[in-house]
Amino acid sequence: MPQRPYIVGNWKMHGTRAMLSEARAIDRAAQRHMKVEVAIAPPYTLIHPVHREAEQIGVGAQDCHHEDGGAHTGDISAVMVADAGAKFVILGHSERRQNHGESDAIIRAKVEAALAAGLRIILCCGESDKTREAGKAVSFVKRQLKASLPVGHEALAAASERLTIAYEPIWAIGTGNSATVEDIAEMHREIRTLLVELFGEEQGAEVRILYGGSVKPENAGQILSAPEVGGALVGGASLTVDSFMSIALAAAEADEG
Ligand code: PGA
Repeated sequence: MPQRPYIVGNWKMHGTRAMLSEARAIDRAAQRHMKVEVAIAPPYTLIHPVHREAEQIGVGAQDCHHEDGGAHTGDISAVMVADAGAKFVILGHSERRQNHGESDAIIRAKVEAALAAGLRIILCCGESDKTREAGKAVSFVKRQLKASLPVGHEALAAASERLTIAYEPIWAIGTGNSATVEDIAEMHREIRTLLVELFGEEQGAEVRILYGGSVKPENAGQILSAPEVGGALVGGASLTVDSFMSIALAAAEADEG
């Protein structure tokens, strides 16, 4: 792995202030595992409180609007999450694409807004079970990624420095069934090829590619040892310090081994 493994917790719509003690415990545990970069993306309402208390972990948002401000009731902009203390934002998660009808074009606009606000980005991609069964997973994911990234040499170069990709097959999210290590390795290799095509040899090799979808302590070691897997985006198992930090520990061991 070119950089430290990156283990990111996506808390989704989980967490009231009662969860701040869990965030604190994750932060303390992360201080003992400096070989791994640990971050969480809590709901918007907890970004600032977690940011205020965290000494080690990164704090990010799960989404943002593509405009800086305006008449968008209920929406939150990239500028606002950065102001609250977020250092990164997850964009293009399949739950946003499916439940909120987010197109690749909208996600591209969000990527541009997030970059302009100084945020790092975790850009998600992943195929449905139907697409995989039809043998089109790789072409689908590559097209999805290309269409969600900024256009033009300069914009791409700027994006690459603050970009992480998360491959999350839709059918593996929250189901308990992760993809096989072979399928993960194949997809990550294909994504790496695309990144090198887009960003050039050097920069394309630097962008971390995370796997997400039912990562848990029991399968983390195997998944994180696969080639080109630079970390994990973890949903359910990131909600308690024990399971989340077991995954971080597996990442450290995989990196050493
Ligand atoms: P899961 O979610 O770990 O609960 O499958 C992963 C994600 O959606 O990022």
